[in-house]
Amino acid sequence: MTEPLLKTASEPRYLYVHTFGCQMNEYDSLRVQRILAAKGYLPTPDMASADVIFLNTCSVRDKAEQKVHSFLGRLKRLKVHHPSLKIILGGCVAQQLGEKLLKRFDHLDLVMGTRAISSVGEILDEIQASDKRLAYLPEEDSTAPQELFEASPFSNFTVSAPVTIMQGCNNFCTYCIVPYVRGRERSRPSREILDEINRLTSCGTREVLLLGQNVNSYGRGLQEKISFVDLLHRIEEETGVRRLRFTTSHPKDLTDELIRCFADMPVLCKYLHLPFQAGSDSILQRMNRNYTAAHYLEKIRRLREACPEIGLSSDVIVGFPGETEEDFQQTLHLLETIQYDNLFSFRYSDRPYARAAQFPHKVDEETKARRLIELQAFQAEITLRKNRAEVGAIREILVEGPSKTAPELLTGRTQQNRLVHFQGSQEQIGRLLQVRIRSASSHSLTGEPVSQARSDG
Ligand code: SAH
Ligand code: SF4
Ligand code: F3S
Repeated sequence: MTEPLLKTASEPRYLYVHTFGCQMNEYDSLRVQRILAAKGYLPTPDMASADVIFLNTCSVRDKAEQKVHSFLGRLKRLKVHHPSLKIILGGCVAQQLGEKLLKRFDHLDLVMGTRAISSVGEILDEIQASDKRLAYLPEEDSTAPQELFEASPFSNFTVSAPVTIMQGCNNFCTYCIVPYVRGRERSRPSREILDEINRLTSCGTREVLLLGQNVNSYGRGLQEKISFVDLLHRIEEETGVRRLRFTTSHPKDLTDELIRCFADMPVLCKYLHLPFQAGSDSILQRMNRNYTAAHYLEKIRRLREACPEIGLSSDVIVGFPGETEEDFQQTLHLLETIQYDNLFSFRYSDRPYARAAQFPHKVDEETKARRLIELQAFQAEITLRKNRAEVGAIREILVEGPSKTAPELLTGRTQQNRLVHFQGSQEQIGRLLQVRIRSASSHSLTGEPVSQARSDG
């Protein structure tokens, strides 16, 4: 008996990808798209027409995990209409729960751990050939060099592209699940990173975002002797990239040498995401962050001294176990002192394996919610004020493409990572432009091109 929707080899096959979580997950999703594009899968934005659905998951907060469960629940009915559809779950929830997910969701075909991305093509073949359901959670990374970006109608080209330079984390902040689901820190050889960037830039990418949970410790454990700052210089010298960004930096490892790069390296965008997490020293200590608020402020002072126009953003958690009203006020005080351009704020949630889950004096949900609202309102005023202060200034932006909210406009980013919408034309995509800022809201700016910043074609 043949299945009504079984496709012949010559018909196009479609891949739908949905990504939760951080930029590392975004990058892994791009890799899955690249690997499956080489097998003939076209990307589709329409879940119902997909032959393969890849759901990349995050388990950093309990809310993130719940979102995955409800999304997965909604996929069940798709299988009724399309029995040969394969549903793959990857990422950190997959790594955390493994086989259990196959038991809980009988429409799930493959659970793939965080070290399994390289093998997605082969395992997909296997489950398609045998109709087996599998949980594949390798303990080691693949040793083969990663696939490179191929320009084709199947590919996911972007003006600004992420490149992972290291995986995992050794910091064990007491609230965090990441070291358990992503494993210990390991760096990619510099040759691989440079090759990947060169391939991207030869296809038209202009900006690269280097990714790692703690990029400052790049190079540890590699056979070659190379630091993160060395890597930045090699990228500047050996690739055609026009703009470079990186994330995430841990404040305890932010060296003066790296701070100087913001002043000395034209390719490096004047922007840093430097999570502080809490303003109270006793909370920071119990978070195992290995710095005090004073140390953190000193790093910010040095950054601004070296590079006065640097844009700053951060992550903060409210309601960590034992957080008192006084501790919370210290967090607000730090926001007031630093005046971040942007802030990502979260309410603490217990995570499996993370030590803080066992800590006493949990803060009740109502208090956490109230503190989060207060903190977000406090920061919203700062962000809006800082955006408004941009009006009238001339800024360099890299034009990324049509605006997501108003497709008749184009969007670019300033070095400080502010979104700027403007009226422009297709051929400006990928260019560095000077724009005069006309207006500001809390999320973005509007501007007007004044001339081309550099003769960059
Ligand atoms: N490696 C990065 C970010 C990791 S996760 C770093 O070290 O900064 C992104 C953010 O999620 C963290 O910075 C933290 O603010 C938040 N986060 C992590 N675990 C959390 C938890 N259990 N509850 C609430 N927020 C959490
Ligand atoms: Fe988590 Fe801390 Fe590692 Fe960031 S540095 S991933 S917050 S353990
Ligand atoms: Fe989430 Fe995993 Fe990233 S837990 S934040 S997707 S490393």
